[in-house]
Amino acid sequence: MSSLNQALRAALDNRHDLLAELHAQGTDCYRLFHGSQEGAGGLTIDRYGPQLLVQSFHQRLERDDLLQLHEAINRHLGLDLLLVYNDRSQGNSRIDREDTVYRAEDAALEDTVGHEWGLKYRVRGRHAGQDPLLFLDLRNARGWVKQHSAGKSVLNLFSYTCGVGLSAAAGGASEVCNLDFAEGNLAVGRENGLLNPELPKMKFVQSDYFAAIRQLAGLPIIQRRHKLPAYPRMDQREYDLVLLDPPAWAKSAFGTVDLLRDYQSLLKPAVLTTAPDGVLICCNNLAKVSMDDWREQVLRCAEKAGRPVRDWQVMSPASDFPSLDQQPPLKTLILQF
Ligand SMILES: C[S@@+](CC[C@H](N)C(=O)[O-])C[C@H]1O[C@@H](n2cnc3c(N)ncnc32)[C@H](O)[C@@H]1O
Repeated sequence: MSSLNQALRAALDNRHDLLAELHAQGTDCYRLFHGSQEGAGGLTIDRYGPQLLVQSFHQRLERDDLLQLHEAINRHLGLDLLLVYNDRSQGNSRIDREDTVYRAEDAALEDTVGHEWGLKYRVRGRHAGQDPLLFLDLRNARGWVKQHSAGKSVLNLFSYTCGVGLSAAAGGASEVCNLDFAEGNLAVGRENGLLNPELPKMKFVQSDYFAAIRQLAGLPIIQRRHKLPAYPRMDQREYDLVLLDPPAWAKSAFGTVDLLRDYQSLLKPAVLTTAPDGVLICCNNLAKVSMDDWREQVLRCAEKAGRPVRDWQVMSPASDFPSLDQQPPLKTLILQF
């Protein structure tokens, strides 16, 4: 047995109880192999409903290895998952769309549906973006939101495909607003809404984060050297539950998202937009930032903004994202004001 096969076998065995739990709760989207921690750095294998998504980030997989692991997983799960292989070992983790190793069948590239916490999500093996449409390490946070949003107004910042918003709607939120500057990501969020027609309708706002959050928080929008692009006008207001899950780095005319050097300028307006007695869930996905340092920064920033945190809780990814040093790259804090 090759070392990759051995590592995969161990990973599948380690997930025995978790998979039973996930299937029972209506989840069929999860990580089956987290290579960096399970013996093959740069390789991830995820199930998204009927699809098996294999991604390589460091080096291309050999075709035989790919087909063997597909077969081993199908045998283990007793399923016939549709294989999609995205080699992302080129610059900036761009997907190599040439398909030189393995050309996916048409059926594997069609739109399908995956499930999480009983909700339906759009699954698409290839699309204009690079990442799969649902980030699986945020599943526990989405579960928490679903459990704690009854009657709450919810603001989902950097919403991507609106998974957190959908969870809030399913949890009985009184209103849900998803905000992102990428129309393509919000469009998938709308599809996710349509896939769950029994849920109340969500709101979608296409806007730069800084432009929107500073208006909501009642802060001035900072004018830099150049004239600012047009942006949607928003009234100052508060939300009961706010989710702040920014990318590691992004620059726009309105400001720079920089999780390493300046989490505060993202956090402060989000704190001010959270209602007294409200909850702010904030994330930092930068591996090199430690939970202890970041938590200290977060608590200090809230204090300085005049909104000290009454209680906080760490939300870790589930065990399909094992972390040998107990320091998962995605760090999530639930702040209670
Ligand atoms: C890490 S993803 C967020 C993941 C998301 N919270 C989820 O639940 O899947 C980052 C998102 O931030 C958006 N984004 C990046 N910079 C932005 C900005 N300045 N204003 C608004 N959205 C931004 C991207 O379009 C992308 O959808």
